[in-house]
Amino acid sequence: AAKQWVIKKKAPINPSIRKAEAKVVDAFDIEDIQDKAAFCRCWRSKKFPYCDGSHGTHNTETGDNVGPVVVKHK
Ligand code: FES
Repeated sequence: AAKQWVIKKKAPINPSIRKAEAKVVDAFDIEDIQDKAAFCRCWRSKKFPYCDGSHGTHNTETGDNVGPVVVKHK
């Protein structure tokens, strides 16, 4: 059976990254991406906005299933 989640209150997604900023936005030129780039969606990477694999620990510890978005050239 699917795991049931009970949300008791609204909580931030970002625990610690660039909290002084009103909104964390990163923009990249596609031409600057060499082969491919993996961008973090779990907000746990020490190399944010790039994925450093920290989603694996996060998923193990929480039961979550998040991972990066990978951008690549054809
Ligand atoms: Fe966040 Fe990989 S470290 S998605």
